[in-house]
Amino acid sequence: MDLGIKSKTVLITASSKGIGKAVAEGFAAEGCNIAICSRNKESLIETSKEMRTKYKAEPFWGVCDLNNIKDIENLHDAVIKQFGKVDILVNNCGGPVPGFFNDLSEMDWSNAFTQVLMSVVRLSNLVLPEMIKQEWGRIVNITSIAVKQPVHNLMLSNSLRAGVTGFAKSLSNEVGSKNITVNNVAPGYTLTNRLYELAVNRAKLSGKSHEEILADMAKDVPMNRLGGPEEIAAMIIFLASNKASYITGTTIQVDGGSTKAIF
Ligand SMILES: NC(=O)c1ccc[n+]([C@@H]2O[C@H](COP(=O)([O-])OP(=O)(O)OC[C@H]3O[C@@H](n4cnc5c(N)ncnc54)[C@H](OP(=O)(O)O)[C@@H]3O)[C@@H](O)[C@H]2O)c1
Repeated sequence: MDLGIKSKTVLITASSKGIGKAVAEGFAAEGCNIAICSRNKESLIETSKEMRTKYKAEPFWGVCDLNNIKDIENLHDAVIKQFGKVDILVNNCGGPVPGFFNDLSEMDWSNAFTQVLMSVVRLSNLVLPEMIKQEWGRIVNITSIAVKQPVHNLMLSNSLRAGVTGFAKSLSNEVGSKNITVNNVAPGYTLTNRLYELAVNRAKLSGKSHEEILADMAKDVPMNRLGGPEEIAAMIIFLASNKASYITGTTIQVDGGSTKAIF
């Protein structure tokens, strides 16, 4: 299937590892111009090198802490200097710290709010003027199945991802007439560093090993296994494509069926 996005410019945030990296690789395979970012220069260089070898891509990378508005503005400026515009924005971020209500400080809430919600607001604000001018654009936010069903011990994610969902739906109403779509992809248990760290955290609380915790997570999924980052990426790339031109304001979970609710 020709997705119709060859040569489009894609900015994917938090993309040196895990799901963000798989998304960047997927777009590189489609022949897009790629811009990636994270806080660690070495891992960005490593990821770019891999993409050059595997996909003959020349990704642009920028060091950016999504908690910092100046970093976000500098990243956007640098991508514009490199490619002239952003056609597709994929908003990813590091996962907020785990914890129950009693474990979390005012600072934890404030950091999670800035990272999870404000990074999406700020980046959308920066890319939208050009998308509106060219009457084409795609924004896809990576959230979590926490928006459908709270996840144990993830109070911050359970609370703040819902804000991204509300933002995306509202924004989709405002920009739909300009041929810009705004959607969310909600991953279930996906085998990345983040999931490994969550398993280690739960292991400490439960007395089980992290291997047992990962096995328990897989057992809870009707497909009886954890997801791969490339399986999340596939949905994101489809939503960003010309084939998904009439899909906007939605949240699509990619979770092997683990969400228990019908809707
Ligand atoms: N994996 C799952 O099972 C799962 C399920 C549902 C939702 N999610 C959500 O999906 C997102 C991606 O998860 P993942 O599993 O791919 O995580 P991951 O493997 O830990 O990768 C996280 C990426 O984000 C970057 N990052 C972290 N904090 C950042 C910051 N402040 N500014 C810029 N970049 C930052 C990391 O690089 P640096 O550390 O070098 O900055 C890394 O490239 C997270 O929000 C997570 O909560 C994951």
